Amino acid sequence: MMRWKEDDLLVGGKALIESPEEMDLSYLMKSRILYVREAYPSVVLDSIGLARKGGISLISNLGVNLSLFGREALKIAAMSDLVLVGSRELSLLGDDIVGEAISILKRGPKAIIVTMGSKGSMLVKEDGIKKVSAFKTKVIDTTGAGDVFTAGFIFGLLKGWDLLTCMRFGSAAAAIKVGSFGARSGLPTEKEVMGFLSRH
Ligand SMILES: Nc1ncnc2c1ncn2[C@@H]1O[C@H](COP(=O)(O)OP(=O)(O)O)[C@@H](O)[C@H]1O
Ligand SMILES: [Mg+2]
Repeated sequence: MMRWKEDDLLVGGKALIESPEEMDLSYLMKSRILYVREAYPSVVLDSIGLARKGGISLISNLGVNLSLFGREALKIAAMSDLVLVGSRELSLLGDDIVGEAISILKRGPKAIIVTMGSKGSMLVKEDGIKKVSAFKTKVIDTTGAGDVFTAGFIFGLLKGWDLLTCMRFGSAAAAIKVGSFGARSGLPTEKEVMGFLSRH
């Protein structure tokens, strides 16, 4: 993440931030939620630790980091309030997806959300596991489904919704997206997601 101009976050302007000095901590401290996706654990750990201490919720997506850094990625997960991960990447740790999610949960997060493509998503918490179905829809291109799910999920968190409602909103946003070609085209508005949910 780099600061570009006021209220404008440039995410992915370069592949990955290479040194801690590139993190703009003062900008970060103005946020309510910090979402970390692919990042060198060694570069971001200090800053995200400070953000957490400052009361900012940390949400991380373990997926890509697991492919890039293996178990080293679990350091970011351990500091997170919530961890999202795709089942495909989670299975890099072991065949037992639920068991792997529970072992990440034991490192500290309040919940792990595992996304499983057309099989939906799963909320893994200390008090049990709950599944949220994917919506049956016409599939044109699933590129970016996980990112759109996450965007919808975090949108819900900012609204103060409970985790399952956030997952359902994210699933609906992702279901709309998979109906169009490309990672960005087909991104729905809040109203479109609400309309979709009222029809399903
Ligand atoms: N074929 C599909 N039909 C309906 N919903 C889907 C489909 N693929 C993905 N989704 C939705 O998007 C979410 C994230 O998708 P997933 O495939 O797990 O992520 P990724 O983009 O990392 O492969 C799923 O949990 C589901 O809600
Ligand atoms: Mg997928």
